[in-house]
Amino acid sequence: MSHQVFASSAGADSAALDARVAELLGRMTTAEKIGQMSQVNAGDAVIPDHLREDIKAGKVGSVLNQVNVDTVNKLQRIAVEESRLGIPLLVGRDVIHGFNTILPIPLGQAATWNPELVRKGARVAATEAASAGINWTFAPMIDITRDPRWGRIAESPGEDPYLASVLGAAMVEGFQGTDLTQPGTIAACAKHFAGYGASESGKDYNTTNIPQNELRNVYLPPFKAAVDAGVATLMASFSDLDGVPATGNRFLMRQVLREEWGFGGFVVSDWASIEQLTIHGFSANKRDAAYEAVTAGVNMEMASTTYRDHLKELLDSGRIDMALIDEMVAGILQLKFRLGLFENPYTRLSDFPPIANEDHLAIAERAALESIVMLENRNDTLPLKKDKLDSLAIIGPLADDPYEQLGTWIFDGKTELSRTPLQAITGMLGDAVKINHVRAMETSRSPYSDTFEEARQAAAASDAVVVFLGEEAILSGEAHSRANIDLPGDQAELVRLLKETGKPVIAVIMAGRPLTLANIVDNVDAMLFAWHPGSMGGQAIAKVLFGAHSPSGKLPVTFPRMVGQVPIYYAHKNTGKPATAKTYLNIDDIPVRMPQTSAGMVSTHMDAGITPQYPFGYGLSYTRFSYADISVSNEQVPMGGRLTIAAVVTNAGDVAADEIAQLYVRDLVGNVTRPVRELKGFTRLHLQPGESRQVSFELDTSDLAFYGRQMQLMTEPGEFHAWIGGSSEASLQTGFTIVDE
Ligand code: GLC
Repeated sequence: MSHQVFASSAGADSAALDARVAELLGRMTTAEKIGQMSQVNAGDAVIPDHLREDIKAGKVGSVLNQVNVDTVNKLQRIAVEESRLGIPLLVGRDVIHGFNTILPIPLGQAATWNPELVRKGARVAATEAASAGINWTFAPMIDITRDPRWGRIAESPGEDPYLASVLGAAMVEGFQGTDLTQPGTIAACAKHFAGYGASESGKDYNTTNIPQNELRNVYLPPFKAAVDAGVATLMASFSDLDGVPATGNRFLMRQVLREEWGFGGFVVSDWASIEQLTIHGFSANKRDAAYEAVTAGVNMEMASTTYRDHLKELLDSGRIDMALIDEMVAGILQLKFRLGLFENPYTRLSDFPPIANEDHLAIAERAALESIVMLENRNDTLPLKKDKLDSLAIIGPLADDPYEQLGTWIFDGKTELSRTPLQAITGMLGDAVKINHVRAMETSRSPYSDTFEEARQAAAASDAVVVFLGEEAILSGEAHSRANIDLPGDQAELVRLLKETGKPVIAVIMAGRPLTLANIVDNVDAMLFAWHPGSMGGQAIAKVLFGAHSPSGKLPVTFPRMVGQVPIYYAHKNTGKPATAKTYLNIDDIPVRMPQTSAGMVSTHMDAGITPQYPFGYGLSYTRFSYADISVSNEQVPMGGRLTIAAVVTNAGDVAADEIAQLYVRDLVGNVTRPVRELKGFTRLHLQPGESRQVSFELDTSDLAFYGRQMQLMTEPGEFHAWIGGSSEASLQTGFTIVDE
C-alpha cells in the first residue's frame, strides 16, 4: 500500500508547509513520532506528574478537556520548552453548540435553515473557546439520523443530507475561518465518520448496516461537504459499519476519505474506540487493534494507549512500515503548523474580546429565535397580546430552569448567562400583567402530584396559560436513547388538567429530539417547539409568544405520530405498494373476521396512518404564505446543462415574516430506486403583508447525481418532478426531463 507521506495541498504555501513538516519529521525519533499520535485526557485541575513527564518525553501530541487557560499554557510550556523538539500540543474540547455562551443544540440550529447564522454561531463558540487555549473542537457532528430514539439526534443536523451538508460546511467555516493562525479560529472535526446515525433501534453505539449506495447517497454527503469546506480533521465513529467498525475501516478512511475525496487532514479516533475494536470482536488484542486502526488511517488515538503500547512492536515486527507512521504523523504536524502553534503556542487573554459579550449573546438569541418551530396555532391563539391580558399562568418544570434550557454537550456553558422564559416574560410584561407561576413538576419525569391541582387553579385564575414541557438536557445526548419518546412523566396529564379550565393553553416544548406528541396535541391551542434553545432561549421564546418575532423555524427532522413508525422520514423510497389515502385501511375500519383480501395491502401500519405528526420542513408562521406560478426555464434539459425552477411566494396575511421556501425534486426512475422527494434548495425571504416575490433555484444536472448499482456517481436522463413550497409536503408541482445530448 503506497503511503502518501504528505497531504495533498495546492499552492506554494503548502509546498513550504510540506517542507517544514518533512524537515521536522526527519529529526524525530520513532518514540517521538508515536507520541504525536496519542491524545491524552488532561482535565485535572493540577497537572499530574505522569502527564508532565509524558509531555516532556514527547509522548503526547494532544490533550483534551483542559479549559483553564493558565493550565493550558502550562501544558504547552512543558511541550514547547521542556521537550527535546518543542512540538506544541493540540488542545481539544467538545465545543458543540457554544462554549460559555450556549447556542441552541445543533438540531435546533438546523431548524433555522440559516447557514450564515450557523456560521456566526460557530465563530462565537470558536472565539470563546480559543480564549481558553482550545485550538481544536470535536465538531461539527454531521451524522444523518432518522431515529428520534437516538439520544445523539440532539447533536445532529437532522435527517436530510442536503441540509446537513450546507449547515455542516457553515459550521466548519465558522470554527476555522480562512486562516487558522488568526486568534479566534480553531480546527474543526467532522464526526462521527461514518454512518453512526443509523445505529439499530436508536440505541447508541449500536450496529449499523448500511448498503453502500445508501451510505454514499445519504450518510457520506455531509462529510464530503465538510472536507470540501476544508475541515481540518475527522473523527472515526464507535460504530460497527457492516461488520467492520469504522475505527478500523479502510474502505472509509482510505478509499473514500483519502483516495476518492483527497482529504489532506487527519483522523482522530473516538474515545478509546481503537481499544474497543477488541470488544467488538474485530481484533483479538490491543496490538491487533492498533494495527487495524493505523493501517485504516486513524492518525491519532484518543484516550486509550494501544498506539503508545504497540506501534513500536508492530514496526519492529515489520507488520507496518515507517512510511505509514510518517504519513500519520505528517497529518498531525501539518495542522500544528497551520494553526501557527510553533510561532504562537500560548494564549493571551488580551487577544480576545470578553467572554459572553453582548454580541455573542445577541447571536445566541437570534439563533434561538430562528430555531423555534410553531407546530400548532388554532384560532390564532398566538401571538399573545399584552394589552388583552390581565393575568397569565406560567406552568411547568422548564419555565425557569437556566441549566436545562442549555441542552446536552454544554461542558463549559455558564448558566448565569441564561435568560429563562419566566425571567423574559416577566421582564417583557412588567406589572401590566399578573404572572401566576407554578412549576407543578419537580422534573419532566415527575408523576402526578397535588401540585398539579395548584397548577390547574393558577390556570383557572388566569386569562391564558403557557405550559413549559419537554425533556431535561440529560435525557438526550450521548448514550441517552429512549425507546418511548412521549413526554416523560405525567406531563400529558398536566396539560389535560390545564385544558379542562377552558383557558387558552399554549405549550412550549424544550427537548433534544422529536417527541411523540399525540397525547397532548388535542389539548393545546398552540404549540412551539424550542428544542433546547441555549443561553438566550427564554428571551427568544418570549419574543415569539408576544409577537415581537414571527416564528420561522422549519423542522429538520420528521416528527412521528408514534414511535412504532420509526424510522420515518420524508425522503423515503416509493416501494412497490405505496400507501395513499385511497388505498390505506385503518385498523378501526377492519371488521373482525374480515376475509383476507387485497384491501389495504400497501406499505403502512394499520394503526398509525400514513403520515407523520409533523413533516420535515414544516413550521407555521404568524402570517400565511402562498405559492403560485411555478415554472421551469427549460422542460428539456441537456445532460450537463442547467435549469432554473421558480415560483412566486406571497405573504397572504397581515404580519411581516420570514419564510423558508424549499425546493424538492424527484427522479422518477433510477438505476437504483430513488426517494419520492429530495431537498435540492432552500432560501429565506422576508415579506411584508401582501408582498410577493419570486424565488428561483438554479440546478445543474450534476446536482441530481446519485450513486447507482455499481457505486458509480451518475445523473441519468429521464423525467423529474419538482415542487416548491413551505415544507416537504409542498404541492405546487412542475416537471422537466433530462435528455442525453
Ligand atoms: C465521546 C463522543 C465524541 C466526543 C469524544 C470526546 O465519547 O462520542 O463525540 O467528541 O468522546 O469527548
